[in-house]
Amino acid sequence: MKDILQELEERRNVARAGGGAKRVEAQHAKGKLTARERIELLLDEGSFEEFDMFVQHRCTDFGMEATRHPGDGVVTGWGTINGRMVYVFSQDFTVLGGSVSETHAAKICKIMDMAIQNGAPVIGMNDSGGARIQEGVSSLAAYGEVFQRNILASGVVPQISLIMGPCAGGAVYSPAMTDFIFMVKDSSYMFVTGPDVVKTVTNEVVTAEELGGASTHTKKSSVADGAYENDVELIAETRRLFDFLPLNNREKAPVRPFFDDPARVEMSLDTLVPDNPNQPYDMKELILKIADEGDFFEIQKDFAANIITGFIRLEGQTVGVVANQPMVLAGCLDIDASRKAARFVRFCDAFEVPILTLVDVPGFLPGTGQEYGGVIKHGAKLLFAYGEATVPKVTVLTRKTYGGAYVVMSSKHLRGDFNYAWPTAEVAVMGAKGAVEILYRSELADKDKIAGRVKDYEDRFANPFVAAEKGFIDEVIMPHSTRRRVARAFASLRTKKQSNPWKKHDNIPL
Ligand code: HXC
Repeated sequence: MKDILQELEERRNVARAGGGAKRVEAQHAKGKLTARERIELLLDEGSFEEFDMFVQHRCTDFGMEATRHPGDGVVTGWGTINGRMVYVFSQDFTVLGGSVSETHAAKICKIMDMAIQNGAPVIGMNDSGGARIQEGVSSLAAYGEVFQRNILASGVVPQISLIMGPCAGGAVYSPAMTDFIFMVKDSSYMFVTGPDVVKTVTNEVVTAEELGGASTHTKKSSVADGAYENDVELIAETRRLFDFLPLNNREKAPVRPFFDDPARVEMSLDTLVPDNPNQPYDMKELILKIADEGDFFEIQKDFAANIITGFIRLEGQTVGVVANQPMVLAGCLDIDASRKAARFVRFCDAFEVPILTLVDVPGFLPGTGQEYGGVIKHGAKLLFAYGEATVPKVTVLTRKTYGGAYVVMSSKHLRGDFNYAWPTAEVAVMGAKGAVEILYRSELADKDKIAGRVKDYEDRFANPFVAAEKGFIDEVIMPHSTRRRVARAFASLRTKKQSNPWKKHDNIPL
């Protein structure tokens, strides 16, 4: 018996050693943690239960029978984050470059199947040279099995991808189908074809970092939702995000103890909106002043900053926030902002996270760039996402909301539950100057007359009361009491039940 126990321990030690001390050293030299070190940091101490530690590949081509490693380049299993269950896989670059074989993928599929069945999120830590070249088509088929599970798990359990090394070729499509992608600056990259292929095909000379590094994907492509300095920071922030999320689509997000008075008054908000309508102000200040303890987890901070998306808590409960940012492009909606916010709204709706929308929007960004880029279809994504969402929706208008953008931004007409406005809000088809220039084109030469017309238009429409008279705004509220009003609104909606007509699925304008 003792011998058997010793053998088990020895076998475990071999598996835990991954690709060996030299390769672990090389991994550390690149500033990267090993697959097991990452799992240890991500999960609560002592909570990790491993699956398939002794699984080995079955390939015999290209002398592969001589390079068998127990675990086959990926560590899989489950554990807890602050006591809540999660399934994890962590690719081990020290074993054959973390490349994906048939058995490596089967290990990932096993924990994904269990996650779907048992209703717990999946966090994948990606650090891989891609398809195991020696296995050829078997490896491609194996990827296909992972992709299929990503699709089936979507909207059932949250899926988070951490890119912590290479992620190239078709392999990128597994993270691409998950809910959130986070990258490590300087040590991770994602691309469909690498710099060498790019050079051959298009003659462009580009580095891996320029082509698919964290900066590219958080600022230009919006493939990634955030970038962090190193493995440790990324993992710590992932734990923080995890605490905002429900385990699956049948459960609500966890309620955290809170020490912040829901009725807290913020007198400074009464002067947040400047007197000059053309002067910007920082919408983030409002988000932080509404949130419990000022805690805000922002998604896609570096992309389409004219709209802000992220999670806060109110009375300990998770709320998704979408807010126009007047500091960037005057807070207008454009292609990027519409896509970013639509995806976020759909995540919230899929996982029963209520949505708070803070509105100050002059309309859609004009221009050939926008029209040629398909702003009609992309803007419709956000409209569609809000209109189909059945989660509690609370909206606060702070300043202006014009034209189509008024309807899009969680208006009453898209089944907004509470639509509040500050006294500074104005709801109109367009700004007063633009309206007068169209209505009184023949008087344009007479500056005084036009100024009078603008004043008349402002007096009539530059306020929230016309919309409030029609019931499109439920109540005009004091800015200083926004946290209290919004918290009470969400509290009243905790038992909300709403459903859409039966359909196989909708046909959102992709
Ligand atoms: C088998 C691989 C491998 C792979 C790396 N290795 N990638 N083995 N299949 N795909 C092995 C190397 O042989 C090496 O083994 C070890 O992993 C570490 O690799 P290095 O090259 O020494 O590391 P580094 O210099 O850091 O470069 C990392 C790398 C490079 C940029 C990822 O290894 C590379 O270019 N690999 C090939 C990438 C690729 O073309 N993959 C296929 C993509 S297509 P030893 O024994 O020397 O330590 C794809 C399709 C998916 O993935 C399709 C899904 C439908």
